Amino acid sequence: MAGKRTALIAGNWKMNGLVADAAALAGAVAAGAGSVNCELLVCPPAVLLTTVSDASKGSKLAVGGQDCHAAVSGAHTGDISAEMLSDGGAAYVIVGHSERRADHGEADTDICAKAEAAHRAGLVAIVCVGETEAQRDAGQAEAIVGGQLTGSLPAGASAENTVIAYEPVWAIGTGRTPTAQDVQAMHNHMRTHVRDSHGAAFSDGVRLLYGGSVKPENAEELMALADVDGALVGGASLKAADFLAIAGCCR
Ligand code: PGA
Repeated sequence: MAGKRTALIAGNWKMNGLVADAAALAGAVAAGAGSVNCELLVCPPAVLLTTVSDASKGSKLAVGGQDCHAAVSGAHTGDISAEMLSDGGAAYVIVGHSERRADHGEADTDICAKAEAAHRAGLVAIVCVGETEAQRDAGQAEAIVGGQLTGSLPAGASAENTVIAYEPVWAIGTGRTPTAQDVQAMHNHMRTHVRDSHGAAFSDGVRLLYGGSVKPENAEELMALADVDGALVGGASLKAADFLAIAGCCR
């Protein structure tokens, strides 16, 4: 990756963990956070935010949410605002994960509003994009991802308040990954796309994470790619040793 962008390795715990596991896992990751050459982030289920924030206090491990509502507060049963995440110790929030897009019918306009909410609350939004297998097979991957970027990135996105994660849907939790050449080609496409929409300061500085079956065995090759500035890690983020080993691949 380019030297001016500090790599970010983000763990998405999804719907996993109870208080005792979360404290132990976050504590183990926090203990290793000082010896890796990147920023480290974990995104636990919202109910575990304060547990994880407490376990990471005094370390370089940052904490984030997995989703937020666009509004500050109100009659939205079961939802959580960006302000609430911030109050619980979060500095980041993932928005537009493909599991949210698929399971909750979230469209680009929803995700754009959530990213704006994140910025309003002072959080960094990790905006996720990625094509399905059928879309890739049909040769539409770049067009799909470009369209998602156009629809999901708010006008006020900056390199400081936004991170973009490319997560091909077919690579999530499957053990399959695109080739290194395909990842680099997509990341280069994304950087060019956002230069056109948001300007050179954004495209030069924004961190582009790769996500989808990242593990210690493939992280070295992926993290060495010119336009890959870190990873969004699901399954392997649930084991401190694996997560730290992935982070150890950032030079
Ligand atoms: P995975 O998930 O690492 O388990 O493939 C990645 C993600 O969904 O963020």
